[in-house]
Amino acid sequence: MPVLDGDRIVAALRGAFTRDVDRQGLLQLAADRIRAVGPPYTSAYLYMLHGQELVLEAFSGRQTDHTRIPVGKGVCGAAVATGQDQNIGDVRAIGNYLACNLDTRSELVVLIQRGTTILGQIDIDSDVAGPFSQAEHAETRKVADALAVLL
Ligand code: SME
Repeated sequence: MPVLDGDRIVAALRGAFTRDVDRQGLLQLAADRIRAVGPPYTSAYLYMLHGQELVLEAFSGRQTDHTRIPVGKGVCGAAVATGQDQNIGDVRAIGNYLACNLDTRSELVVLIQRGTTILGQIDIDSDVAGPFSQAEHAETRKVADALAVLL
């Protein structure tokens, strides 16, 4: 069983949407709910695409210096450049990585897409290697797909 319950977070997002919570509030809610899952999830970042740059619009967990990431840079930028989610089991094994802190060991980036248009991404960090199973990925995708509709 995945530790992340995507359906619960989607329900919370839909509820917030019907209460007229704005874009910033929805992004923050998603970050907070994902972070609240706890280990192996340590931090959640919502980067939204503005032209050729990803801009950090909400996060929960550790602070990062990477508030703006050009398309193509790091794991986050690679997701946009390739149009593919990135599931990095061990960040030490890859060269194109922007370290946010020394404790992060793995990272999952799931694109927020409306049709073929990339709106942004959910970036989740973990302090342990290889925690993001296909099931965790699928739960996170539910949240990303809900955001694509609600934002
Ligand atoms: N590690 C990411 C940068 C984002 S921060 O870690 C929150 C990357 O390589 O793109």
